Amino acid sequence: MGYHEAWQRSIDDREGFWREQAARIHWQTPFEQVLDYSSPPFARWFVGGRTNLCFNAVDRHLPARADAPALIYVSTETGQERTWTFGELHREVVTMAAILQAQGVGHGDRVLLYMPMIPEAVFAMLACARIGAIHSVVFGGFASHSLASRIEDATPKVIVSADAGSRAGKVVPYKGLLDEGIRLSAHKPEKVLMVDRGLAPFDAVAGRDVDVAALRDAHRNATVDCQWLESNEVSYVLYTSGTTGKPKGVQRDVGGYAVALAASMENIFRGEPGRTYFCTSDIGWVVGHSYIVYGPLIHGMATILYEGTPVRPDAGILWQLVERYRVSVMFSAPTAIRVLKKQDPSWLTRYDTSSLETLFLAGEPLDEPTATWIGDGLGVPVIDNYWQTESGWPILTLANGIAPMVTKPGSPGVPMYGYDVQIVDEVTGEPLGANQKGVLAIAPPLPPGCMQTVWRDDRRFIDTYFSAIPQRMLYSTFDWGIRDDDGYYFILGRTDDVINVAGHRLGTREIEEALLSHAGIAECAVVGVADSLKGQVAVGFAVPRDAAVVTGSDAALALEGELMRTVERQLGAVARPARVHLVTTLPKTRSGKVLRRSIQAACEGRDTGDLTTIEDPTALDQIRAALR
Ligand code: PRX
Repeated sequence: MGYHEAWQRSIDDREGFWREQAARIHWQTPFEQVLDYSSPPFARWFVGGRTNLCFNAVDRHLPARADAPALIYVSTETGQERTWTFGELHREVVTMAAILQAQGVGHGDRVLLYMPMIPEAVFAMLACARIGAIHSVVFGGFASHSLASRIEDATPKVIVSADAGSRAGKVVPYKGLLDEGIRLSAHKPEKVLMVDRGLAPFDAVAGRDVDVAALRDAHRNATVDCQWLESNEVSYVLYTSGTTGKPKGVQRDVGGYAVALAASMENIFRGEPGRTYFCTSDIGWVVGHSYIVYGPLIHGMATILYEGTPVRPDAGILWQLVERYRVSVMFSAPTAIRVLKKQDPSWLTRYDTSSLETLFLAGEPLDEPTATWIGDGLGVPVIDNYWQTESGWPILTLANGIAPMVTKPGSPGVPMYGYDVQIVDEVTGEPLGANQKGVLAIAPPLPPGCMQTVWRDDRRFIDTYFSAIPQRMLYSTFDWGIRDDDGYYFILGRTDDVINVAGHRLGTREIEEALLSHAGIAECAVVGVADSLKGQVAVGFAVPRDAAVVTGSDAALALEGELMRTVERQLGAVARPARVHLVTTLPKTRSGKVLRRSIQAACEGRDTGDLTTIEDPTALDQIRAALR
């Protein structure tokens, strides 16, 4: 069967297709119904079935591979390197589950994780899954305001954190940011479990903060059974940015997610149980959830958790790890490859990378020179894959495990089974033909693994994702796309105010809100500007309240510095703009709407488009002058 027939079947006979895929995981209680779509656009998969993500990722492998590697931890930041077998991983996860239970965490409670790339983070995620607690991992690069909004929305009973992360040899203390985040939040966790790595001294809050290591001994022989969850119960909430300043809690189920990941491991990644998967993402992002933690382990593969950059101690480190652990599948982001491309190309051939079968890249547009450079350098196929926090697994890529297909430069590929992808007109919602640019949309029901709803906000799920396209109830990806005559898709940027910096998804509104919290600023605009290394960078334009603060003056330089630090303190270094320029006015329409698209075009030296509605044409000249 060719790929197209397989895809067609997944749409025409949804239930038959997914019933077969569901056999890949363990069901403690079989499901009664494959799909309940009685309340569109909400899809409930594998209704009545009971299962557990931790059981599928860990316990299920104990009979066959208790002594096989499961978690391989490498930190080039601290020099730590250690492997846990499935048996050892099981022990650590059960211990962590017992520790969480001892803090009062039970079925349905939220546990927020604000953690660097350390094994305890994986133990904690799996421990939550084991006892039916809902984890919400906050990326370690975020700071106090980002934390506060997530704490307030997820209302965690317990937070698990650590003293510090480390980035490129520099210790990044977490505890101060966490304490500030809790202070800013109206909701307070009952306990904070601290993993002390000995990197940054911190003050423990009496009665609230608990040292994980101290509890470990007390619970190391504990027994904690898996809580069998109905397929549609909540496994986790992961926050992501959109058009508004308030991040959305992407809510995921249990059974559908397990099935979707298990299927993708074979159909898309062609991983083999017993071999090693290396994903260079971070557990704070969806790629880390799906393809550092759950996907590889569910499939019985060893997974590498890597704390470090691609160029330290040298630009050969990733390939050295491929050699040492005989990695067969690798998953990274285009930015990481562009960083390596600036280094001596001989690093690609110094190690024995013959175990590597495929390199998958995702998270941002993959440019052809980068794909060719790394594919030729390593001598392996490079496969682009397009998806979102909301989908949980690839929407567009190649399913070479079903039927091999050729790669097309610049295209992430074709719709994956289960995704009824369409390109539609932004205004009329009508489906468009080949070679016509429109919004990339998906006709519901969304397949297993995709978000169920916005955490505690069904209305927002419908209003955000299913109301953006007029006339028809379609899921909007908020990406522009085009399909060619052969059915391959191309992604042409976001339709909303989301930007993508080095594969990190950020909302410009959040950055604007952080800038506006500075008393010296009257108004501002943040746009994403093309960058040859990071894909995009954030650039801000701010109007000072004090007209005497003119560009180039000492006062202006001081203010720009303060603004950058404000964003860093509130949102984290990841959101810090590359520059904040001071201007006396922003380009706006006569009705007062900031012309962000025109500002972005000016920043990229492109035509600024139709400006008949602009209030003050000199405002754009100021933007151009600031950039010079
Ligand atoms: O704009 C698309 C871009 O990243 C967005 C999703 O980001 P996030 O929620 O962080 O999930 C990343 C999961 C891989 C998309 O809406 N994007 C993601 N992958 C690609 C991409 N743009 C172009 N090509 C890709 N392969």
